Amino acid sequence: TSVLILWAVLGYLLGSIPFGILLSRAFGLGDLRKVGSGNIGATNVLRTGNKKAAAATLIFDGLKGAAAVLLARYFAAEDAAQLASLLAFIGHCFPVWLGFKGGKGVATFLGVLLALVWPVGLACCATWLVMAFWKRISSLAALAAAASSSFWAVLLTDGTAFFLCVALTVLVFIRHGGNIRRLFAGTEPRIGQK
Ligand code: G3P
Repeated sequence: TSVLILWAVLGYLLGSIPFGILLSRAFGLGDLRKVGSGNIGATNVLRTGNKKAAAATLIFDGLKGAAAVLLARYFAAEDAAQLASLLAFIGHCFPVWLGFKGGKGVATFLGVLLALVWPVGLACCATWLVMAFWKRISSLAALAAAASSSFWAVLLTDGTAFFLCVALTVLVFIRHGGNIRRLFAGTEPRIGQK
């Protein structure tokens, strides 16, 4: 169990690195929390108009999740990797550095799934892309990708990642409470809209 606790903590710490905030600052875009939705993710970085910073945020928020999984798998075992993936996601959503007010976890969710069970990760990325190109709303694409993950886990694997996908989906939906309200009200902005 001490090994599991170690990977839970390391996963959390990796996940809690707020790349959106760090990269917007590095690109001279100011405080991301004062932009658009105030969220610290790539979608909100895009609202600054800087596509490079947004792409970098997406990639690094994904990579930190993947890194947590791959490191735990390499140095420990599969159960540690699953735990690290969940904690990396939680770290992104509730980072100690920002008073536990973090992001919505979409890039990190995709990153951990790509590293943990890549067919499920790829299927979720594809779901996100199809929905994003069709509806042009980032949160809607994220909710669809999350909701589809358990289905993909059953369809594409022996079911190992099913419960993790359910847990991550519930958390993604909880983090998108405001977005869901705006979606129903028809006021959720389209991708890139300020
Ligand atoms: O990745 C978060 C996205 O689903 C919604 O972000 O800034 O539109 O609330 P935002």
